[in-house]
Amino acid sequence: MKRKYLLANWKMNLDRSAVDAYSEKFLNVLSSVDLEGVQLGIAPTSLWIERLKSKLGQDSSVWTGAQDVSSQSSGAYTGEVSAAMLASAGTDFVLVGHSERRQWHGESSVECADKLERAFENGLRPVYCIGEKLDEREHASGVVSEQLHAVASALTGYSERTFIIAYEPVWAIGTGLVPTNAEIESLHKIVRSELTSMLGSERSAAVPILYGGSANAANACELLKIPNVDGLLVGGASLKPDSFLEMARYAQATVSL
Ligand code: PGA
Repeated sequence: MKRKYLLANWKMNLDRSAVDAYSEKFLNVLSSVDLEGVQLGIAPTSLWIERLKSKLGQDSSVWTGAQDVSSQSSGAYTGEVSAAMLASAGTDFVLVGHSERRQWHGESSVECADKLERAFENGLRPVYCIGEKLDEREHASGVVSEQLHAVASALTGYSERTFIIAYEPVWAIGTGLVPTNAEIESLHKIVRSELTSMLGSERSAAVPILYGGSANAANACELLKIPNVDGLLVGGASLKPDSFLEMARYAQATVSL
């Protein structure tokens, strides 16, 4: 059965009491949302993963995620959080290579490959983020292909490795700008064909490709109808449970299209 994914990236937002308030409201609204065929996930700051998980209920079908993971397994790496630590906190997925990590922390695709390895070793599902900057827009396909090829050995390592790709044009993140449907469709098609050449068609078909960048309740339905868009990675619009779950309704409505 087809699935649509709706993953929230809270970034460095929501303090302890806001997480509690969010969870309460989220659960209230969630009870009226049909989630058949929809996978929801929320990535708070790592500090609140366990708290969010316990608020949502240990058996909740909603995934909890981390926004980053160390490329190292353990040791003297001040400030880092290891994949094993995230796994033991009950984390289901982890963002790797988000553009804000690449931009503000100089993260390269080579480092991302190590992060992907650590995630896989610890049973975390990585969401590998790729996308071009504004001045690269003319050759976006080359940029995303390069970002995929740089981590190919991690992605193709073992057949049981399960991961998600998030295509997020850097210029669309947090700006209110969104590429045209045709641009998104064409980029997702390129990502799919790169995955097929790396993994073969059967494994490639199982990899969800999400779109991210100023997705919100007003444009979600249209975005989710684009071929090869298997879901959305949502920043700003995920900070309000109402709007995030409104998007979940659209995800459900478009699941079998
Ligand atoms: P945005 O962020 O939805 O606020 O544009 C998306 C992201 O950074 O993943």
